Amino acid sequence: MGQDVIIIESDGVIEIHLDRPDKKNALTAAMYRTMTATLADASARSDVAAILFAGRGDAFCAGNDLKDFMAGPDGASAALDFIRALALFDKPLVAAVQGQAVGVGTTMLLHCDLIYAAPDARFVMPFVNLGLVPEAGSSLLAPNIMGHARAAEMLLLGEPIGAEAAERAGLLTAIVPGDRLLDHARQKAAALAAKPPLALSRTRALMRGDRSALEARIDEEARLFQQSLSSPEAQEAFAAFFEKRSPVFRRG
Ligand code: COA
Repeated sequence: MGQDVIIIESDGVIEIHLDRPDKKNALTAAMYRTMTATLADASARSDVAAILFAGRGDAFCAGNDLKDFMAGPDGASAALDFIRALALFDKPLVAAVQGQAVGVGTTMLLHCDLIYAAPDARFVMPFVNLGLVPEAGSSLLAPNIMGHARAAEMLLLGEPIGAEAAERAGLLTAIVPGDRLLDHARQKAAALAAKPPLALSRTRALMRGDRSALEARIDEEARLFQQSLSSPEAQEAFAAFFEKRSPVFRRG
């Protein structure tokens, strides 16, 4: 499979391991494409019951690769394909999260069913700080899950939250010690794979309900996101990150 993503299969579960630890598992277009293809494969196969997402190293995922973002709107299309595939994926999604979960590293979790996090997990959706808008349906899903007032702290202020706050906010299934995190998530994924497939699939579809509003929101976010990418404020934010300085935004 593609570079920087490791795919492992066992007993009805496909594990997708982000494997770019030197860049905190920031997602490149190639990584998105590998994940999108894996989801399509998993959806088509009757012997696959669930997906498990995990990240190698000390971070789960530092979000989209900011070099791809700097390249402009084209850099975002592989991400959008992945997000659409994730939102419409028809089997349970499990995640094991340690360390940083930034941007899409957090928003992808809003689509997952069972989310386990180590005590050091830190969740942040810093889109506004980067001159961007929320993506992956997070402007709809985050307020629905945690309430508008808590989502506003994350989406309008771009403030991070730790594992305990994330658990209280309903973003997590449970906090699990770091040394048992992956095993625990694997056990839960295996438990899903042992369930009667039709009942499992119907139950999940009922829980998720009609997806049309979510799909429409993803498209609307994507339209604004694409516009934002080339804006002076976004380009300033990306440049500031790589130059390891604070961004300076101008009004008017
Ligand atoms: N895109 C591209 N490169 C990234 C990256 C990203 N999203 N996140 C981290 N990296 C790179 C850094 O540039 C650095 O590369 P270098 O070693 O060549 O200098 C390396 O990964 C390690 O990152 P560093 O910032 O030194 O690690 P840290 O532990 O101090 O901080 C983060 C980790 C995730 C908090 C920090 O890297 C960060 O804020 N990244 C940007 C996250 C972001 O804004 N994502 C987009 C959301 S829409």
